[in-house]
Amino acid sequence: MARSLVFAALVGALCFTLANAQHHYDEHKTTRMVWCTKSQEEQYKCQNLTVAIERDRALFDEVFLNLTCFMAYSADECIHHIDREKAHITTLDAGDVFTAGRYNSLIPIMQEKLEGGFADYQSVAVIKKGSLPDLNNLRDMRNKRVCFPWVGSLAGWIVPIHTLQREGGMEVVDCNNQVKTAASYFNNSCAVYSLSDKYNPIGDNSDKLCTLCTGKIPGGRCSSADPYFGYEGAFKCLLEKGDVAFLRHSTVNEMLQTTEFKNISPDTFELLCRDGRRASINDYRQCNWGQVPADAIVTSSARSFSDRKQYQQFLKRIGELYSDGTRDDQSRLGGQGFNSRNNYNEQSNRNSFNDQNGYGQYDNNDPYRTQNQYDQYRSERLDSSFSEERNQQDGTNTSILYEKFRIFESKRYGKPNLLFQDSSRALTVIPEDDQSFTKYLGPAINFIYGIRECPVSAMTLCVTSENELDKCIKMRTALKAHLLKPELICKKMHSHINCMQFIEAGKADISVFDAGDVYTGGLNYDLIPFMSEVYNLGEPEYYVVAVAKEDDPDTELTYLKGKNTCHTGINTAAGWTYPMAHFISNGWIRPYGCDSVRAAAEYFTKSCVPGAISNEYNTGVPYDSMCDLCHGTSYRYCRRDASEDYYGHTGAFRCLVEGGGHVAFMKHTTVMESTGGKRKEWWARNALNDDFELLCTDGTRAEIQEYKRCNLGKVKANAVVTRGGVNYNETQMNAYINLLTYAQQLYGRKEVDAFSFSMFSSPIGHYDLIFQDATRQLQVIPPNKRRYDAYLGSDFMRARRITDCYSGASQVALSMGLLLVGSLVAML
Ligand SMILES: *[C@@H]1O[C@H](CO)[C@@H](O)[C@H](O)[C@H]1NC(C)=O
Ligand SMILES: *[C@@H]1O[C@H](CO)[C@@H](O)[C@H](O)[C@H]1NC(C)=O
Ligand SMILES: *[C@@H]1O[C@H](CO)[C@@H](O)[C@H](O)[C@H]1NC(C)=O
Ligand SMILES: *[C@@H]1O[C@H](CO)[C@@H](O)[C@H](O)[C@H]1NC(C)=O
Ligand SMILES: *[C@@H]1O[C@H](CO)[C@@H](O)[C@H](O)[C@H]1NC(C)=O
Repeated sequence: MARSLVFAALVGALCFTLANAQHHYDEHKTTRMVWCTKSQEEQYKCQNLTVAIERDRALFDEVFLNLTCFMAYSADECIHHIDREKAHITTLDAGDVFTAGRYNSLIPIMQEKLEGGFADYQSVAVIKKGSLPDLNNLRDMRNKRVCFPWVGSLAGWIVPIHTLQREGGMEVVDCNNQVKTAASYFNNSCAVYSLSDKYNPIGDNSDKLCTLCTGKIPGGRCSSADPYFGYEGAFKCLLEKGDVAFLRHSTVNEMLQTTEFKNISPDTFELLCRDGRRASINDYRQCNWGQVPADAIVTSSARSFSDRKQYQQFLKRIGELYSDGTRDDQSRLGGQGFNSRNNYNEQSNRNSFNDQNGYGQYDNNDPYRTQNQYDQYRSERLDSSFSEERNQQDGTNTSILYEKFRIFESKRYGKPNLLFQDSSRALTVIPEDDQSFTKYLGPAINFIYGIRECPVSAMTLCVTSENELDKCIKMRTALKAHLLKPELICKKMHSHINCMQFIEAGKADISVFDAGDVYTGGLNYDLIPFMSEVYNLGEPEYYVVAVAKEDDPDTELTYLKGKNTCHTGINTAAGWTYPMAHFISNGWIRPYGCDSVRAAAEYFTKSCVPGAISNEYNTGVPYDSMCDLCHGTSYRYCRRDASEDYYGHTGAFRCLVEGGGHVAFMKHTTVMESTGGKRKEWWARNALNDDFELLCTDGTRAEIQEYKRCNLGKVKANAVVTRGGVNYNETQMNAYINLLTYAQQLYGRKEVDAFSFSMFSSPIGHYDLIFQDATRQLQVIPPNKRRYDAYLGSDFMRARRITDCYSGASQVALSMGLLLVGSLVAML
């Protein structure tokens, strides 16, 4: 009777304080919490938890939340669901807290604490005792069969890979793919997720790190359903197949307590230290590979402060009610609540892992004990809600009854470490200011960033206009968001020629060039093309077409004298070299001794040929009529870059639509990309496909779609170039290829919402910035084509010879050129 009065007083006091506290910050109050579980077993345990809290509801007072369990199949799925607010919380390994925080804005709000108040695990390498006698230092880890819990786990993957990169001679073979790097180092191993999309974005990982896994195909192999998944799975893998397993310091003892492995002695195993020594399983403080934070409970950062606070209070109460461990605020009240470190070590030295009484045993002088009567209240209240199962183990036969639900116990559900780690003893609240993955990870974040370091640290992209620079900076941000390496750096130079000079000098690394600039860059600056754009032909090529208005039947390709013409730019393939070579070689235009600018100026009335009056591109006499149709204002006028409105393929088309041009030369995709409402700009709004026609070389006209039979030739697509010649560095070039490959995997999609970055599209009002908008993908140019002449091919070299008579270096080109000059001479 007296007791129940005490209860009533206590409950009342608690209610009062809580209600009071909440009054200040709670505008709206959340009433539910959806827990995302990662397996069927977790789901069962979670459901049991809901039953338990429902029964003990009175003990939660104000902090009660209606808990429901939502089952997913992996941590990644849970992260996804929480990000989309289909669930609210889940527990995650520190490695996954990083992923969730970095990519999905989830934040840790509670952390698990281990025996002794520790908040960290040691990452350990476990081997079978006496095995691997020839392994004397970490370099000998090469070609071993290794059991990892899963790719991305902090103690089980990131710490060991990082350590082996630093000390074990593991070389980075792919700056953006840890799995490839690891696969080239180890023998057949098991690392769950090594073939999942997340760690295999390009889809070309070897299956070497799945071969040791034992799950059933399909679906169960090398996934979270694999028997070798998780720390416990990696342990099993070590027993059955592997040479080494990377585990947490607690894993082995945890596993040896399970019915399945209880007959195995801890002496069966030993730790492999970083210096090659061996140590007993319990000497993990001296023999570990790194320290990582204990698991965290995460929620979405979109949850309000008051929601998070409620989650914390609720979870804290769950921790208090359903664990034998300590309370969070104990450590805060002078840190004496936890067993002292010495005490803890004593216990582990006694190897008392199995000793239930060792856990949570309190000193009677513990200030917390004497001070807090709530605990007493708790045990009595719980007594009445659990009927059987007297506590026999401690030999007493008092009225103390065991709680049936325990959050840090999972045995009865058939798997260890469900919802929480079984080695945890308490849940602690993470204060609001510390609710970020960086603060939670602390120094352990260096492991994570460390394994992403790349031998080539940066890639400088050279662009030629402000708009391209803006896009480059957006791309840089996007790549950084995914931690892709090398780091993209953006540099704006005043012209393509200027970019070529900078790349040759090593002040920039790559640029994306039209075939004409690939030629100039290769011939004069030793640049080499290594990746090319691919448009709708499936090959890195496009057709050069001449386009006129449908309602202007007088314009035909065989007689353009006196017409207004629109060109993509001086010395570009589609806008200049191909059409000019065509007119000159057919004798329609006088070549003026290979001065093609003069030839054009004498023949056409007005034109827009961006760059035609720039002395970088036209060393001869400038002809103003070559820029008459151009549209750029002030310094932008007739510039050979995206600041001139009529520059490039789309610019040339715009010049035809609104700028007074009779004919425009461009690539075959441009009209289709710009008509029928595909562009929102006012000049393109009313332009329809049918309003335009292709001009064929025989003087006839064709529909825009008939580019395959009505064109001026086929050109190699725009290409990404880098340094060749004496400063060629294959490591660098491969790192660039790697970066661009991953970049397009993430940002190469066409259908994107306005908020995400897309490599192959340009903001409204702009077109073809850096990459052509028509680009579907970037393709690696085979090594034997990584020379300007080999890449561009004989057609281009021939056309180029005709327009500027510059002697190309290639023998093939030369002979072709001679042939053509021959036929030209004959014609004239
Ligand atoms: C807890 O879960 C187990 C296994 O699913 C089940 O057998 C048991 O009845 C549950 N206990 C309670 C109290 O719901
Ligand atoms: C808890 O939530 C579930 C699902 O939202 C609902 O069906 C149930 O009635 C709620 N229980 C309480 C006590 O509010
Ligand atoms: C990989 O393991 C297999 C089987 O254990 C072994 O025969 C082979 O020699 C190992 N490969 C290397 C490169 O050590
Ligand atoms: C222990 O508890 C049982 C069941 O309540 C009772 O029958 C028994 O007499 C008790 N033994 C002692 C020594 O108190
Ligand atoms: C190539 O570049 C890498 C990274 O920038 C550098 O470490 C390496 O020494 C270079 N190799 C040569 C042969 O210059």
